[in-house]
Amino acid sequence: MRTPIIAGNWKMNKTLPESVAFVKELAPALAPYTSVERVVGPTYVALAAVSEALSGTDIAVSSQGIHWEDEGAYTSQIAPVMIQDLVTYAIIGHSECRAYLGETDEEVNKKARAALAHGIKPIIAVGESLEQNEAGETSSFVGGQVRAALEGISAEDMPKVVIAYEPIWAIGTGKSASGEIAQNIIGGTIRAVLIDLYGDEVAQKIRIQYGGSVKPDNMAEYMSQPDVDGALVGGASLKVDAFTELVKIAA
Ligand code: G3H
Repeated sequence: MRTPIIAGNWKMNKTLPESVAFVKELAPALAPYTSVERVVGPTYVALAAVSEALSGTDIAVSSQGIHWEDEGAYTSQIAPVMIQDLVTYAIIGHSECRAYLGETDEEVNKKARAALAHGIKPIIAVGESLEQNEAGETSSFVGGQVRAALEGISAEDMPKVVIAYEPIWAIGTGKSASGEIAQNIIGGTIRAVLIDLYGDEVAQKIRIQYGGSVKPDNMAEYMSQPDVDGALVGGASLKVDAFTELVKIAA
């Protein structure tokens, strides 16, 4: 009953012309797979042009971040009002933003709430480090991140929220979590937290992605897990063939 969602997080890749050329090639390749929600996440500088290039298609655009204020002295930041007409989604809480930009749980929550207030759907990323994983802290840590991110978000808004479970040790490393591990955390921890916070009916509507070295050769394993509703994809989203293959497998 949940529509799978495959989102490409391009990270700091592709110039403006490269971004536009890429989506012009990608859009027709993805067109047949209407049973899957398909999302691209260019850099801020390319959002307007990519959004324009994809108008008339059903491929959604995501920003890679967002600020919680409407304006102000926040050098380098982008307000929700500046992108609300360009994007459907905003990625929030990515481990790279948490690690390199110091994004805190509290900020993730403020950003998620601001996004929803402006009609932007948040893709909230959570995930544990290798040390936490080896110490057996994955479930408590990830569960805590989810609870913190959703503080004050109403049950009514929750179906607009997507959660991405991305173990940090699996990002860009080629070392992906097994389908079983992904299911254990996504079903056993994240959806269990959602049930606790919002009840079963709401929790069953919320899409939870896996992310971390997702490739065409491991995609089917994730998509066969009952609680995994798609993927947040880095490296493999930068190539038309690979991203299309992921979407095809999810369809
Ligand atoms: O947002 C995407 C993730 O960080 C995964 O990146 O597919 O290159 O491992 P990756």
